[in-house]
Amino acid sequence: MDSKTSSKVAPNNLGADSNMLIISERIVRDLLTIEEAINAVELSFKLTALNQVIMPPKLYLDLPSYHGDFRAMPAYVDEIAGIKWVSVHPGNHERGLPTVQATIILNDPATGKVLAIMDGTYITTLRTGAAGAVAVKYLARKDSSVVGIVGAGTQAKMQLIAISKIIPWIKEIKVYDVKKSARDEYVSEMKGMVKSDIRAVNSLEEVSDSDIVMTTTPSREPIIKQDYIKPGTHINAIGADAQGKQELESSLTQKSRVIVDDMDQACHSGEVNVPLSQGIIKPENIIGTIGQIINGVVVGRQNDHEITIFDSTGLAVQDIICAKSVYKKLIGSRLNKLENNKM
Ligand SMILES: NC(=O)c1ccc[n+]([C@@H]2O[C@H](COP(=O)([O-])OP(=O)(O)OC[C@H]3O[C@@H](n4cnc5c(N)ncnc54)[C@H](O)[C@@H]3O)[C@@H](O)[C@H]2O)c1
Repeated sequence: MDSKTSSKVAPNNLGADSNMLIISERIVRDLLTIEEAINAVELSFKLTALNQVIMPPKLYLDLPSYHGDFRAMPAYVDEIAGIKWVSVHPGNHERGLPTVQATIILNDPATGKVLAIMDGTYITTLRTGAAGAVAVKYLARKDSSVVGIVGAGTQAKMQLIAISKIIPWIKEIKVYDVKKSARDEYVSEMKGMVKSDIRAVNSLEEVSDSDIVMTTTPSREPIIKQDYIKPGTHINAIGADAQGKQELESSLTQKSRVIVDDMDQACHSGEVNVPLSQGIIKPENIIGTIGQIINGVVVGRQNDHEITIFDSTGLAVQDIICAKSVYKKLIGSRLNKLENNKM
């Protein structure tokens, strides 16, 4: 293929002439920082709100007899196409496996050529943490300094790392998990990663008495009651990402200013799915998407007294834009090595 044809086929410098890459979790960890993921995810939200992405709804393969489900998440964003195939099995810790496991396929949108197959488990955690950080940037009170974490698993760890990049002045971190061992492990693991005072607490009431509350459990029963949350709190509702899941009491959602990552996906499978099906809230009660707030077309927090909720379901565009960053960095470093070898 001559260079003229090549530039037509791969106009985005995606390295479409190279062999398909297999990218392991270790390489993803080495190449993508949380700061880069936050910027990439913010861009993906922005482009989604500007209708510059193509993202069909997530397709669910429910396997209740295995206590798990699979999801296919395709997207075209920022001149790349791809799909994530992800499983969620909340009982996996007993088997020594993560609850969420994923693989991503990246394609050249111009030719369909597979550019890379890469680990998607770490990208899922990174982009979910990044989404939480973007929500805190736009929705939390500027003087927020106490953070409460509900559910002390994989997502909870990255949520904290990510939001500490946005509000490095956090004074106090409280963590609650239904399992005492998970709380204690969280504290000992995260102590070395954040400068703030961090401690495990024994009740949902105590953890909820915070400026920012992050819920990251697979609960199907509301665990955070309206009365636990004080005025002015911002909540990142991360755990509910499938039909029937719910972490917040419906009346809490009803009285809060609710912002979603994607309207259709949230109504189907986000924190709002249960209160909507109960008729306690209506789609009109959802203020808008985080992308609309980033773009300035919808107002986020209006004052220091209201409770804001970011309902995160996790979008394919977040995964694919982060996967693109990994792929481009890897191609870049390989080209650099080739150049250096020539010298
Ligand atoms: N919104 C998104 O983009 C997104 C992305 C990834 C995962 N998720 C969802 O987030 C949830 C957590 O995922 P994870 O990978 O961190 O799982 P995990 O298994 O690593 O952690 C979940 C933790 O929640 C605790 N827990 C369960 N029920 C609880 C309860 N009632 N009260 C307090 N703690 C409780 C568990 O003991 C566990 O420590 C899952 O529901 C997953 O589907 C959402």
